[in-house]
Amino acid sequence: MFRTIEWLDESNQVRLVDQTKLPLKVEHVVTDSHKRIAKSIKIMEIRGAPAIGAAAGMGMALAAIESNARTKDEIISYLEKAADTLNTRPTAYNLTWATRRMLNKARSLAGTAEDIIQQLIEEAKEIAEEDVRMCRQMGEHALSLIKPGYTIQTICNAGSLATVHLGTVGGVVRVAHEEYSDIKVYAVETRPRMQGAMLTVFEFMEDDIDVTLITDGMIGTVFRQGRVDCCVVGADRILRTGHVINKIGTYTMAITAKYHNIPFYTVAPWSTIDMETNPEDVIIEERNEDEIRIINDEYVTVPTAKVYNPAFDMTPPDLVEAIITDKGVVKAPTEEKMRKLYEA
Ligand code: MRU
Repeated sequence: MFRTIEWLDESNQVRLVDQTKLPLKVEHVVTDSHKRIAKSIKIMEIRGAPAIGAAAGMGMALAAIESNARTKDEIISYLEKAADTLNTRPTAYNLTWATRRMLNKARSLAGTAEDIIQQLIEEAKEIAEEDVRMCRQMGEHALSLIKPGYTIQTICNAGSLATVHLGTVGGVVRVAHEEYSDIKVYAVETRPRMQGAMLTVFEFMEDDIDVTLITDGMIGTVFRQGRVDCCVVGADRILRTGHVINKIGTYTMAITAKYHNIPFYTVAPWSTIDMETNPEDVIIEERNEDEIRIINDEYVTVPTAKVYNPAFDMTPPDLVEAIITDKGVVKAPTEEKMRKLYEA
């Protein structure tokens, strides 16, 4: 798979794959504007928690260049505004994590404005490189949980396209597939944005990994028929309590998995782990009602139908058999275990 997002050194621009066009067309957005990056995040040309974190990091670096600042204070004041502009989606922790990291980096630097801007570009590139490394590490840690011949069920897209490269669930599947070539995937289509159908199926087929598409309503049936060995899902935010916030439908999948004794794992890098927020304070993004009313520019319901469209849900820790991170696996997550791993 290609890289979802990259920094172009020769022109100091960012290039990202426009995911709203996939799988039929591979088109890119190329920009030198942090406001354009903010728009890409908002309209989901780039999506998936780690990918929007990397985009926000690069957006901050573009903002530093755009600032035309002559002093460190001028850079910081421009970056503070850019961080607000870039934080266009409230649920994925990686987004605030990345803008905060870039601001902290700027505050810690000394030197001319030019030096500081250059170091901020390097920091944004490092966020992206770290993401690629962490995806591989998560895949390697997950090997202790995946056996030859396993069929892994996932939801939404937590593959290469949701990260810079490889993916969180994508990393687990790809590393397992390198080890045992008979690994298979069931991808849930994931209404209303269809990331499972449009992105997960596309990228696993590109890599010759055996993937089967099912609709959201088929989860219980495929579990009952014994078609799935474990569930591996990504996360937009994981709390210190072990609560997992991920794409709408994840909670239902976790409950159904528990009923059928199918292990339910979540996989995310440390940039997704929020040690501060309490479960009741997490903001779940509610998206436009027409995402549900309209398919392919046609109404599929009464145009004035009342709609509720939360993009994410929260799965409590008692439904999560293990959290796989780049630092290791936390089985039966509790606050104490999360803290221990975080401090280590
Ligand atoms: O609304 P999206 O497409 O940004 O939602 C993405 C997900 O829910 C993913 O599962 C999550 O970000 C993990 S991606 C590695």
